[in-house]
Order: sequence, then C-alpha cells, then structure tokens
Amino acid sequence: MLGLVGESGSGKTTIGRAIAGLVRASGGSLRVLGREMIGGKERDIRPIRSQIGFVFQDPATSFNPKMTIADCIAEPLIVHGRAASMSQAWPRVTELLDAVHLSATLATRYPHELSGGQRQRASLARALALDPALLIADEPTSALDVSVQARVLKVFSELQERLGFATLFISHDLAVVGMLAQRIAVLRGGELIELDTARRVLASPAHPYTQRLLASVPVPDPVAQAQRRRHWQELVASDRPAPAVTAEGQAPAVREA
Ligand SMILES: Nc1ncnc2c1ncn2[C@@H]1O[C@H](COP(=O)(O)OP(=O)(O)OP(=O)(O)O)[C@@H](O)[C@H]1O
Ligand SMILES: [Mg+2]
Repeated sequence: MLGLVGESGSGKTTIGRAIAGLVRASGGSLRVLGREMIGGKERDIRPIRSQIGFVFQDPATSFNPKMTIADCIAEPLIVHGRAASMSQAWPRVTELLDAVHLSATLATRYPHELSGGQRQRASLARALALDPALLIADEPTSALDVSVQARVLKVFSELQERLGFATLFISHDLAVVGMLAQRIAVLRGGELIELDTARRVLASPAHPYTQRLLASVPVPDPVAQAQRRRHWQELVASDRPAPAVTAEGQAPAVREA
C-alpha cells in the first residue's frame, strides 16, 4: 500500500483518476500495471481498467441513486462481461457484501437508505467486484465519523491481507496513512516532494512541508497535543523546518498506530 498525502487541491484525486482512466493525462508518462497509458488505444487500455478498482472520495455521490446496492455492485461484473444478468451476478454480489461485513438484506436497498459507513463498505465491495490487482481508494473514510472510519479501515486492511491487491491510498490524514501504508508519497501543488518507506517519512521526513504535516497530526494525549500545537504555531509563524521527531522522541503518527 502506497499512501498519497497532501493538502487539499494538491492533485491527489487527479492522479488517482488519471490512473483509473477517468481523466485523460495531457502529457508526460503514466505507466499503470506495467503499461504506458498515454497515447494508448482504448482497446488496449480497457483490460488494464478492469484490473483497477476505485473507491471514491464522496460516498454520498459515488452511487447512482436510482440503482439498488445489488445493482451497483453487479454493474462492473455485467459491464466487463463476467456475468450476463443480475441473477448470474447474484452469488458474487452476496459474497462481496459478506466480505465487507454487510448483510445481504441491504442488497435491495437504495444508496440513500444506507448509513455513510455502510455505503462506503458497499463502495469497497463494488471496487473489489472484478478482483482488482490495484485498488485506488480516494479518501475512503474522510467523510465518516472517527469510530465508523476505524471500522471501515479495519475491513479494508483485512481484505487487503486476504486478497493481496495493491492499494493507492489517498488521504490528507497522515495518521490514517501511517497506520496502513508501507510507503508514503507526499504531494504539494502537483509536485511529488517526498517518497519513501512509511517508517522513514514518519520518523525523519526530509521535506519541511512533510515535517509541518506531521506536526499537525493530532495525538490523544492532551498535554502532548498542547505542546505540539504551540510548536506548530511557532513553525507556521517562522516557516522553518521542524525537527524530525517530536519532544517525546517519536513521530506522532507512529505513536497513534
Ligand atoms: N475537472 C477539472 N478541471 C479543471 N481543474 C480541475 C478539475 N478537477 C480538479 N481540478 C483542479 O486540480 C487541482 C487538484 O485537484 P484534486 O481534486 O486532484 O485535489 P486533491 O488533492 O484531491 O484535493 P482534496 O484533498 O481537496 O480532495 C485543484 O486545483 C482543482 O481545482
Ligand atoms: Mg481529492
């Protein structure tokens, strides 16, 4: 799992969408699963797309409101010819619902009839429908309450361990990324400023911007939090690089993990 972090508007979603073929890259090079996507023919790119699952940033708008949850999950199976009809897709749909710990009784409901956390798990089920080699999860839990977020993330890492797909995990939350990802990339203003193992990025970030991001991650200890907040305010005021580790001698996101 590669975590892609960066402030709002830095280009995280754009990168995810370009990889999945949802927006066209206008130049440069984009290699996905060993294949150059820019300038490629639609016919050659289509099989790559079927190997990519996408969980969208906003769970409320990522489903067609007129389709039931079962229809939404079955759609990629039908579009890519893995099933000819809903009845053929049904066993796979129930298997996927079960994998994300959703009851099969939710299958006939419409997206607005699910809670945010349930909807995001249904969205994960759909993204996994075609057994993707790569899953792009764009802020999959950012719109959720913290406790619901933890539940979705647990299902997420459990499935990744079981099914073995690679993940591009997009988030502005370094604490969440630090818990899940093996490598972390930091994006700022469309530019990749840091890419290393999660351990190294969290313990000794090379770029001042990453240092500031780390300093702004909340910690559960109110005393430490107050110290960090003061430190962060000083940093913002001075715009100088922070020391790599906090006063407690540990990178904050590692502590949280
Ligand atoms: N379809 C579009 N047409 C033109 N500009 C766009 C389009 N989509 C995004 N942008 C711009 O590209 C930049 C990067 O947007 P992007 O959605 O990738 O940011 P992000 O890092 O995902 O931010 P956030 O954390 O808020 O989701 C922004 O300045 C945005 O306004
Ligand atoms: Mg985004």
